[in-house]
Amino acid sequence: MENKELLVELDHLRRERRAVILAHNYQNPEVQDIADYRGDSLGLSRQAAATNAEVIVFCGVHFMAQTAKILCPEKMVLLPDLEAGCPMADMIGPEELRAFKAQYPGVPVVAYVNTTAEVKAEVDICCTSANAVQVVRSLPDQRVLFVPDQYLAHWVAQQVPEKEIIPYGGFCPTHVRIDPKSVIAAKQAHPEAEVIGHPECPPDLLALCDAVKSTSGMIKYAKESAATEFIVVTECGMIHRLQQDVPGKTFYGLPEIVCPNMKRTTLEKVVASLRELKYQIEIPEAVRVRAMQAVQRMITIG
Ligand code: 13P
Ligand code: SF4
Repeated sequence: MENKELLVELDHLRRERRAVILAHNYQNPEVQDIADYRGDSLGLSRQAAATNAEVIVFCGVHFMAQTAKILCPEKMVLLPDLEAGCPMADMIGPEELRAFKAQYPGVPVVAYVNTTAEVKAEVDICCTSANAVQVVRSLPDQRVLFVPDQYLAHWVAQQVPEKEIIPYGGFCPTHVRIDPKSVIAAKQAHPEAEVIGHPECPPDLLALCDAVKSTSGMIKYAKESAATEFIVVTECGMIHRLQQDVPGKTFYGLPEIVCPNMKRTTLEKVVASLRELKYQIEIPEAVRVRAMQAVQRMITIG
């Protein structure tokens, strides 16, 4: 089907189904462009929690749609491609989490939202890259377990030196692929540019950055900065978002830094998802209720 026909069908379906379309900042431009809201993990969770829509189409990866379902059990949450997972989230399951916790009895666990509902159900509080520092600071304990991203944990530990952060060994395969040499080369080519990076990057990359931000934090930073050029150290989808939201400034991406899971969602799949009401996210109620406590605690913090 031509894009034009798809867009006509989409317009009809989104009204008929009373649907809201949420898209993460790494989504394909054609998907970002039809979304009602675009944002980072925290922003999209807030949109999901606040919406009056009956159906939420989540254009992102599985854990994000699950988070929406955790917050809105009475709504239908659709993920247009069921294979759109997050390899980092799959690096820790409930068994591994229990074994990790058993090594540190009584130490609270912070889970990055990039985790399954089953893992969220067994932690104290969640965080995203936008609020990880605030979440860790909010805990009264001096020692904190942090799962699954070792690099986000490392970055938070640098910001909160008064606490001991014990990381799990997970990582994002997309961000660890970024070669520091490509950032150094970009800096040489664009000496006036500021470097903004995502905290899922390893420390040698973050050491090259002027600012470390969540994906939506990057937009705010680029708007407010006096600089007019930026080297963007994260998934390439951010470039489309930054170019649209911060016109008049120039953004340089890094070649071939793609999250293949984020790119699985296409306009065609979004339309099919609304047409056939697939793929519906379901979470056993006992798991959802416990996971919600950890997500809700995070949302209350800010
Ligand atoms: P943000 O919450 O910063 O958008 O990050 C989500 C993610 O998965 C980045 O890889
Ligand atoms: Fe997961 Fe990394 Fe893709 Fe984000 S970019 S969804 S952390 S694999």
